[in-house]
Parts: sequence; C-alpha cells; structure tokens
Amino acid sequence: MSTLVLGIETSCDETAAAVVEDGRKILSNVVHTQIPDHVVFGGVVPELASRKHMEYINRVTQAALDGAGLELRDLSAIAVTYGPGLVGPLLVGVSFAKGLAWASGVPLVGIHHIDGHISAAYPEHEDLRPPFVCMVASGGHSTLAVVRDYGVYEVIGQARDDAAGEAFDKVARALGLPYPGGPEISKLAALGDSMSHHFPRTRFADSLDFSFSGLKTAVLNYLNECEMKHISVNQADVAASFEQAVVDVLADHTMEAAKRYGISRVVIAGGVAANARLREEMQKRCAALGLQFYAPSVGLCTDNGAMIAAAGYYAYARGERAELSLNAVPNL
Ligand code: KG4
Ligand code: ZN
Repeated sequence: MSTLVLGIETSCDETAAAVVEDGRKILSNVVHTQIPDHVVFGGVVPELASRKHMEYINRVTQAALDGAGLELRDLSAIAVTYGPGLVGPLLVGVSFAKGLAWASGVPLVGIHHIDGHISAAYPEHEDLRPPFVCMVASGGHSTLAVVRDYGVYEVIGQARDDAAGEAFDKVARALGLPYPGGPEISKLAALGDSMSHHFPRTRFADSLDFSFSGLKTAVLNYLNECEMKHISVNQADVAASFEQAVVDVLADHTMEAAKRYGISRVVIAGGVAANARLREEMQKRCAALGLQFYAPSVGLCTDNGAMIAAAGYYAYARGERAELSLNAVPNL
C-alpha cells in the first residue's frame, strides 16, 4: 500500500500544500504566492503574510487534496513546516495542520524547512539516494551539508552573515529592482558582462562557511561612488558580475565539499538554486569532476508543499510523529 503525505508550507510568503506518494511521486502541488501583496513594501511584511496565509490556507489545501483526487481520511500523514521562518506565518500552517490532524485522526509530522528544501530533489530523481552533498541557498540560509541518510545531515558550511538569497535581494534593491531580487538580477544579468567588475569572493582559510556581506557591500559602495561622481552605471554589467561572484563561491565550496568528503553526488536546493547561471555552472563543474548533479526543477526550488511532503514521507517512515502540542519554532 502506498503512503500518501500532505505537505503544508507557510514559513514565509508562499501558502503551499501538496500531496506526494511514497516521497517520490507528486500527485498535486499548489502554491499561492504573496509576492504581489508584499512587492509595494519592498520585502515581506510578516503581519500581512500571516493574514494572507489565513485567507488562503484552506483553499490551497483543499485544491491540493482535490488535485490528488483524495479526501483527508485517505492520507497516511500530514507534514507541516514548524521552523525556521516567520513566527506568525509558521503558526498559521502549524495550527491548521494540527486542526486537520485532530479532526481526521491522521498522524502529524513536523518538518524543518531546510529538510524540506533538501528533499525537493527526491520526487524528480528516482535514482537519487543518500549519501550526497547538498548546497541549500535560500533567502535565509546558505548551508552546505553532507546528507548521510534521509533526514540525517552533517552541516559542513554555513552563512556567517548574509545568506545568498538575502544578498541577491539587497543588491537588487540597491539597483532599484523589485522584491524578490533573485529572479530580477538573473534576468538583468543575462544582458550584462560578468567580467566587467571583479567583486570579492570571501573565503575563510579551511572553512566551508559562506560570507556574502563583503560582496554585497562592495557592490553597494560601487553604486554609491558612481552616484556621487555622477557616473552612469551599466546595471546589467553590475548584476552579471555580482551574480557570477555568488555562483563562483557557491560552486567552489560545493566542489570542495564533494572532494573533501569523497562523495560523488551533488544536489542544489533552495530559492537560489532556481538561478540559471548557478545551475549551468554546477552542471559544468560536476561533469568535469565526474560527479552526478541533481537540481529540482525551478518550481520546486522556491518554497512549496511537495518538498515538505517528500521530507514528511521519510520522517513518517522513520516513525516520527508530532504531538498536538507542536509549536512554531522561528529559529529552529
Ligand atoms: O527558498 P526560498 O523560496 O525562501 C526561503 O526559504 O528563503 O528562497 C527565496 C530566495 C529569495 O532571496 C530570492 O531572491 C531567491 O531565493 N531566488 C533567486 C532566484 N529565484 C529566487 N536567487 C537567484 N536567482 C533566482 N533565479
Ligand atoms: Zn525556503
């Protein structure tokens, strides 16, 4: 008999629900993005996000069940993101999932958002099995991990300051581009010359940790200087050079990790993994080193319910169950 898991994700600005069979087959995947609601503020407004999640969570979940042709009672488990993320938005998903679990008697499983991102690669890659090296780059995280087994991670590199996605968003804002900045920078960068500026790539001796704040500051300083001296800025060139610097750092660290730990599979995950330049570079470098490269399709890189359902399947299979006392943990 197959295991059917409903995944619910509300940690930031996407209200998302999906049903995944046996951790690998996506039966439905519904995402309601709040980007149009937050764009006028230049970033996510937590209180507004909470209210929008409340407005949409029921409809999005119903659409996910309908899309899979299932009723609540057909489910094996309900998986929900309980951290890290914004406390109000997380509480909406957690409370809703607890209500569903209590009303239906279906077991509840609490999922770490990053476990979700890492698990996004499973549904589309039948052959992907741990161990692998995973580089997770999102709005809040730049994390390099060795995935020893499903849900078993050894963190080998972390952001010491700004996360990769955060740097994209801040540089985009300085260039006058709307939120979220990643996709906007990427579009603009495609028209520019990535060799036009050499922005810094920070490395800490033997560490695989990341730092993007120096890079961000270098770009902002350049833009300020141009403004003060009334020099016109080629925005596409700046975007392309900045993007290349981020891509180089992420790719260098990931390749180094694979070599150091003797692991032949490489996975990228998180919103920044949607970046075309990063995907291309990782693919190229993995091929050169004889490593197998996996990336979720673009829609599964940014926040979604399918990744939570996939992670939920493995947690459920390990026997993990959450009590109805499960709480949102913003800094999990
Ligand atoms: O994983 P995600 O949807 O949410 C978090 O968990 O943070 O990631 C969102 C982040 C944002 O910073 C956004 O600018 C970035 O991912 N992003 C991208 C691209 N698409 C989204 N960054 C670079 N290139 C992209 N194409
Ligand atoms: Zn995320």
